This record gives sequence, C-alpha cells and structure tokens, in this order.
Amino acid sequence: MSSGRKIRAAVLTISDRCHRGEAKDTAGPAVSALLEVGLDAEVTLAGIVPDEREQITEALVGAVEAGCELVLTVGGTGCAARDITPEATLEVIEREVPGLAEAMRAASRQVTPHALLSRAVCGIRHSSLIVNLPGSLKAATENLEAIRPALPHAVRLLRGETAHPESDRGRTDTGTAGAAAG
Ligand code: MTE
Repeated sequence: MSSGRKIRAAVLTISDRCHRGEAKDTAGPAVSALLEVGLDAEVTLAGIVPDEREQITEALVGAVEAGCELVLTVGGTGCAARDITPEATLEVIEREVPGLAEAMRAASRQVTPHALLSRAVCGIRHSSLIVNLPGSLKAATENLEAIRPALPHAVRLLRGETAHPESDRGRTDTGTAGAAAG
C-alpha cells in the first residue's frame, strides 16, 4: 500500500486431505507469496483447516480477532458434498461484497467453464475482508489476480480512510461525459 502500514493478512487452506497430511498444500503458500510480493502484504497467520463448518467459522473469527485485515480462504468452494467454505463464511460476515466474487467468476470463466462451479463468497466482518478462493494452486492464484487491484482500497476503506484515491477523481474514461463525478 502506498499509504502507511502493510496489510495484515491470513491465509487459511480449507482441505480435509491437506489437514490429514494426505496432500501437500501448494495453493496456500502460493497465495501467501502473491500477497507478499503483489500486494506488499504481511501474512501474519497461515493454517490448514478441515472441511468442517464449525472449525472454519472458528478459524475465520480467530483470524479477524488476531487483527488480520484480509482473510483469504483457499478451497472448499465447489459443489462436492463437503465443500462448505461459503456457508461458513456467510455465517461470520456482516456485509457481503458481491462484486469481488462476481469478478473472480467472470475472469475465471475466460479460463475454464468450471469457474462457474465455485460458490465463493466475499464479505466483511468488523473491519476485515474475507475472501473465498477455490482450492487448486492454479485456480486460487488466478482468482486472486482477478481481484488484486481492488484489495488495497478495500483495506483503506475498512481502516476508515474513506477519501477516494486520486486516480479515481474526475475520471472521464467511462465514455459517458461527467458520469463518474464525485
Ligand atoms: N477458476 C480458475 N480461474 N481456474 C480454475 O482452474 N477451477 C474451478 C473453479 N474455479 C478453476 C477456477 C473448479 S474445477 C472448481 S470445482 C471450483 O473453482 C471450486 O474449487 P474448490 O472446490 O477447490 O474451491
């Protein structure tokens, strides 16, 4: 972020198989690396949680309480019987930010029709933004890339820094004269 301190982030991989040690978590570390390099964020919490609703909600609440401003989950967003991350997320957020999930699905749809199977949810708990990413390394990083440009301003707003960024002021690139005023 250009202004002030680094974004404090959490990356929670949601996977029964990784939690049991039957599969190596490659997506979580890749997401952490993208946050640290691409967003200059500080990943202060990383963990692996099984696909159990209560354990996911506890981990999300814990990450928010630990001061993470951005909480990314990785996995469990699809349509398999144990994919429950979106429901757990809906249980803990107070406000949805649907545009982020819409953007991830729209961008991913250009890559694979399977993108439409992700039920990812994004929303706000207190002053933290929670984002569901799908579980494979490829899917998680592609989805994060789709929303990365919006994340610093989201965090600034949640910090109470509500001024519009200079780059958004007086924009006339919408093609509709005067439409973007304010
Ligand atoms: N999005 C992108 N960009 N690239 C992908 O390869 N895979 C999809 C989808 N989103 C994919 C993607 C697949 S195959 C599934 S099943 C859903 O995300 C949900 O994944 P999850 O159950 O691992 O969370």
